[in-house]
Amino acid sequence: MAQTFESMKKYKGTDKTMIKTALNQAVDIVRENLADFTGHFQSSNSINQFYEPTENVEWTTGFWTGEIWIAYESTGEKCFKEAAEIQVDSFLNRINNKIDVNYHDMGFLYSLSCVAAYKLCGNETGKKAALLAADNLAKRYREKGKFIQAWGDLDSKDNYRLIIDCLLNLPLLYWATEVTGDNSYAEKAENHIKTAMKCVIRPDNSTYHTYFFDPETGEPTYGVTHQGNRNNSAWARGQAWGIYGVALSYAYLKDPKYIEIFERITDYFIEHLPEDLIAYWDFDFDTGSPEPRDSSAVSIAVCGMLEMAKYLEPSKTQKYLDAADKMLRALIEHCAVKDKKESNGLLLHGTYARGSKENTCSDRGVDECNTWGDYFYMEALIRKSKAWKLYW
Ligand code: GLY
Repeated sequence: MAQTFESMKKYKGTDKTMIKTALNQAVDIVRENLADFTGHFQSSNSINQFYEPTENVEWTTGFWTGEIWIAYESTGEKCFKEAAEIQVDSFLNRINNKIDVNYHDMGFLYSLSCVAAYKLCGNETGKKAALLAADNLAKRYREKGKFIQAWGDLDSKDNYRLIIDCLLNLPLLYWATEVTGDNSYAEKAENHIKTAMKCVIRPDNSTYHTYFFDPETGEPTYGVTHQGNRNNSAWARGQAWGIYGVALSYAYLKDPKYIEIFERITDYFIEHLPEDLIAYWDFDFDTGSPEPRDSSAVSIAVCGMLEMAKYLEPSKTQKYLDAADKMLRALIEHCAVKDKKESNGLLLHGTYARGSKENTCSDRGVDECNTWGDYFYMEALIRKSKAWKLYW
């Protein structure tokens, strides 16, 4: 075990000036990036620390639009609003024309771009696009097994599974129920998280990345990794998706059982952080390992802890707020880009995918920036600088 809440006490937290400086630095980089990334989006991960322009494809483009919205909220500058609105139009085109949307990641794509546009500015295009995306996601709900199928053709045996990442797609469904009054979206989301929590959490509170179901009976069958090191290891980002995903469902459902689950999976994450608090890409690795880090896992976990802390009893609130603050300081000190010549991203030392003997991945975006690491880093900073209203 690498850390305990006791051992976390020796680390320093942030202060107001540190947060303000870090947020301003991030906003400056986003502003400078608008020239290249308004009509285009940022690629999922940087190459040699620089993002390239891409069309609105893959599961990741919403993170960049979300960064622009955070920059707009932080500064009120109209250049950010105008750029984000151009991207919202692109998201409507994408869902209308079904461009690369045959998977579950509608929340990642549409909450941070289009729901944000609607919540911040009453943007009706954003509302329309996000509701179409919610419909697309709802269609992936499988009654046999009561879960949202992550990838591939619906009902195909080799894809009849959920993945832990999907918890971040559920807020789009809760939101769709709120704005339409149609409870079926939220029912699917609630059934999904109930099913997921029954199967992905292991007795030691680590998590499976993916879990298969029998398409005939709907019974859960077995867990396997996709991006983790082994079927029975804890992929750091998967554990972080669990932390923030559970917190977000709690925010909508207020079901007390998610508090206990949050504590179990968050404590596992903290207890497996290395000495400098920047998680390795899989918790099989610890201080001194030459394996790469995944800073994005830490930024996601920090946001989850800051969210859930709102709902905990006071002694626990402080415990998780303190730990989150120290993790955020570690990100600022060890990973934040401070010189635009070094990178056009915000957060160094992420890992998109790392190949191993037991997974089927190839190395991608190893020790690079990735757009979700950047987004959650900015979300953590804005959460620390004001009472931030969620885009989720
Ligand atoms: N949701 C895919 C990933 O975290 O890489």
